[in-house]
Amino acid sequence: MDSQIEEVKSKTDIVSLISEYIPLKKAGRNYKANCPFHSEKTPSFMVSQERGIYKCFGCGEGGDIYNFLMKLEGIEFGEALKQLAKRAGVALKEYHPSPIEEQKERVFLINKTTAQLYSRVLLEHPSGAKALGYLKERGLTLNSIKKFQLGYAPDQWEFVAKYLTKKGFSLQDLLATGLIVSSGRGEGFYDRFRGRIIFPVHDVRGEVVGFSGRVLGSEEPTREPESDLAGGLAHRSLGEGGPKYLNSPETIVFDKGRTLYGLYFAKEEIKKVNQVVLVEGNLDVISSCQAGVKNVAAPLGTALTFPQLQLLNRYTSNIGLCFDLDSAGYAASKRAIEMAENTGLNISIIQPKVGKDPDECARKSPKIWQESVRESIPIYDYYLSSAVSRHGLETLEGKRKISAEVLPLLKKLDDEIARSHYLQRLASLLGVEESALVKVLGKRAETSKSASSINTYPSKPPVRLDRGEVLERYLLSLLLQTKIRSQELMATDFLNEKLRVLYERHQLFCQDKEGFKVKKYVLDLPGELVSLVDELLLTEIEDYLLEDEERLEKEFRACVNELKSLNLRRRLKKLALEVKQAEILNDMVKLELLRKEFRDLTLQLKKYN
Ligand code: UTP
Ligand code: MN
Repeated sequence: MDSQIEEVKSKTDIVSLISEYIPLKKAGRNYKANCPFHSEKTPSFMVSQERGIYKCFGCGEGGDIYNFLMKLEGIEFGEALKQLAKRAGVALKEYHPSPIEEQKERVFLINKTTAQLYSRVLLEHPSGAKALGYLKERGLTLNSIKKFQLGYAPDQWEFVAKYLTKKGFSLQDLLATGLIVSSGRGEGFYDRFRGRIIFPVHDVRGEVVGFSGRVLGSEEPTREPESDLAGGLAHRSLGEGGPKYLNSPETIVFDKGRTLYGLYFAKEEIKKVNQVVLVEGNLDVISSCQAGVKNVAAPLGTALTFPQLQLLNRYTSNIGLCFDLDSAGYAASKRAIEMAENTGLNISIIQPKVGKDPDECARKSPKIWQESVRESIPIYDYYLSSAVSRHGLETLEGKRKISAEVLPLLKKLDDEIARSHYLQRLASLLGVEESALVKVLGKRAETSKSASSINTYPSKPPVRLDRGEVLERYLLSLLLQTKIRSQELMATDFLNEKLRVLYERHQLFCQDKEGFKVKKYVLDLPGELVSLVDELLLTEIEDYLLEDEERLEKEFRACVNELKSLNLRRRLKKLALEVKQAEILNDMVKLELLRKEFRDLTLQLKKYN
C-alpha cells in the first residue's frame, strides 16, 4: 500500500492538481495563490512543484497532494487516495476503506439507483405523465429533463422503500439516505418523497448527495421551515400538498450549506466564462441553462453561506447574484457576502430585465436574460441605488435612512479604495461633505469593530524571530530557490544550528556535476530538517529579484553583510563585557588580548557597514 501511495504521488503533478481548484501563479521556483482554506486578499498560499507540497504562510495549512484533496473536498484519506489514483492511472491493489467511507459509498449507490428509478417513472411510466406534462408546459425541454436527471416520485407511501429493499439494501442504509422516514413509534417506514417532481442534487463530482422534491402544479402552499421534522412528519400531517419544496435532510453525504444545486453541470462553463450566476430556485437554474446561461447554480432554499462561496472560488472569483437581497429571506446571506467581498471575490447583482425571476426572464427571452447577466452591477452600487430608491433623496428623513443603511455596509469593506469610492458617491448623493460621513463611519467603527472580525480566519500569531535568524532563513531561501551562490557567506555566520547544517549541506550539493537538485538535497535528511527545507523552499521571493540577476546579487550581498555585521556587533558586545571584567580584575595579559580582538572586530565591522 505504502508503495502505491508513493506511486500515485510521484505520478501526480501537484501544480496541475491544485490548478484544477484554484488559479496558481508562477512565483520563481514556486507557485502561489490566495489560500483556499482561509480568507485573504494577498496570496500567501505557496506550492512547490518539485517537492510536491504546499503551505499557506497565513493560516499554516500545508502538506502534500493527499492533504490538499482531503482538506478541500472534506474527504478522508482513502477517498483522496482513490480519486488521485484514478487521476494518475494507478490501479490500487489492496485498499480497505473505513466503515464511514463504505457507508458513504452505499448511500451514493442508493441515491443513484433511486434517481434513476424516479427518472424512469417520470419519462416512461403512466404515473409520471402528469408531472412530465407539467414540466413541459413550463417550457422545460426533454434534453434538460434528462440532463438534470429530473424524476417523479409517485404518490405512494412505500414506493422506493419496497423497491430498494428488494434490491437488497439494508434498512439502516436506506434511513441514512433520508429517502425513507421512520414513522415514529412503530416499525413502519415510508417514503419521504411522494407525488413530487424530483430534482437530484449532485456534488461537484457528480454523485447524487440528496434530493429536492417539488409539488406538482403552481399552487403555492406555505413555505415550511427547513427541518427534519417539517420534512417528514409535518408533511404527513398536512396530508396533500405540504411545502412546495421538500429536501432531503442532512446526511453523511449531504451538507446543504456546502452544496449548490446545478454546480456539477455548470463548473466547466463557470471556468470558461470566469463567472458564476447564482439564482434562487432549481427551476431558475434549468431555465437559465436552456436560455444559454449555463454557468448557473442555486443554494437549496437556504441562505447563501461562506463555504458555498469558497466552493465557487475554486472556479471563479466573479459571482453574480440574482436574488432579492432586500427580502427577509436573504438577510442571512448578507453576512456571507460581506465576508466574501473581503476575501477578494467580486460580487455583483443581476436584475432580470423582464419577469419577476430568472426563470420567467429566460423563458420570455433568452437574449434578454443573457443581457441581464452581462449587465450585472457591483453589489455596493446596488446597495446604494436600492437604498436611494426605497427611501428617496427628497427628505432629510430619507437621507438619514440611506446613510444609516449604507454606512455600516461600507464600514465593513476592507478594500480602502473601494470604500473611499463609495463614500464619495454617497456623499455626493446626499449632498454632504465626505468628511462628515467619515466621522460617522469612525463612530460606528468603534462600536461594532469586534462583531465584524468574528468570522475572519483565526490565523496563527506570527512567531517573532530575531533579525539574525530572519536573515539566515532568507539567505538560505535565496540559495535554495535561485542560482545565486555565496562567496563570502560562511557556515560560521549561521548561529542557528539547523540552518547551519542545511547551509553546509547546500555547499556540498552545489558541487554535484548536475548542479544543485532539491530532490537529492532532501534525500535521507531527517524529517524535521525536511520540513524546514520545505518552508524555506516555499518562502516567497519577490518577483523583481527573480527577474533581475543584478538586483538579486545586490540583495544577497546586502543580507550577508547585515548578518555578518549583526554577528560582529553581538561579539563586540560580549567582548566589551569581558574587557570590563578584566579591567576590574586587573588582568593585563588578558586585557591586551581582548583589546586586540576588539580592534580587529571593529575593523571588520567597518567593512560590512
Ligand atoms: P421558489 O419558490 O422560487 O422555487 O423557491 P422555484 O424553484 O423557482 O420553483 P417555481 O418556479 O416556483 O416552480 C426557491 C428555492 O427555495 C427552496 C427550493 O430549493 C427552491 O428551488 N424552497 C422553496 C424550499 O426549500 N422549500 C420551499 O417550500 C420552497
Ligand atoms: Mn421560480
